[in-house]
Amino acid sequence: MELYIDTANIEEIREAAALGVLDGVTTNPSLIAKEGVDFHDRMSEICGLVAGPVSGEVVSMEHDGMIEEANALLEIADNIVIKLPCTVDGLKACKTLSDRGVRVNMTLCFQPLQAMMVAKAGAFLVSPFLGRIDDIGGDGMELIQQIRTIYDNYGYTTKILSASIRHPLHLVQCALVGSDVATVPFKVIKQMMNHPLTDKGLAGFLADWNARKQTECCP
Ligand code: G3P
Repeated sequence: MELYIDTANIEEIREAAALGVLDGVTTNPSLIAKEGVDFHDRMSEICGLVAGPVSGEVVSMEHDGMIEEANALLEIADNIVIKLPCTVDGLKACKTLSDRGVRVNMTLCFQPLQAMMVAKAGAFLVSPFLGRIDDIGGDGMELIQQIRTIYDNYGYTTKILSASIRHPLHLVQCALVGSDVATVPFKVIKQMMNHPLTDKGLAGFLADWNARKQTECCP
């Protein structure tokens, strides 16, 4: 499964990239606003740090405005992916841009038919928000499974990018059902290599090793 980081924070992206397993970055208007920076400057900075796809989202609600914003974003770097909402205008803009060979990430996907429609329109990525479905008492993983089945049934090549990840168990479940990509907050990326038994086992190994060295060197 590909791993993207879901942030607009440069330090988080640097640290995640240093792990050597980061495949891309997703941002959204809320994440950019949190940083208090110029949108295009920050996108350019991120695209310089990560070679893989970097999603930047438009804020226009209608087709023509979306295309205008997309054109400006595409000037920034070759690895820019245009993020559009799963609305009727977003679908039309997805088709317009995909027909031009532009990679599009269709975001705010909450039901399987949205995923089917954007695949038909040529989307590069679809972003189902599984955590936000769980937040209101639904089953976010069921949506990921349904999209996987529909895409496999018809050979749609749009990649499933599981988003709104809240904890490591979401990632295990995403990997088990065949999500192509997961975009993950930095806090959860840091949890991915953690297990208390690893720490406990390592402490035991080191304690035994140090005791042995003391016996050898100090009879
Ligand atoms: O960036 C899209 C998505 O991952 C947002 O997640 O945590 O705001 O529900 P969240």
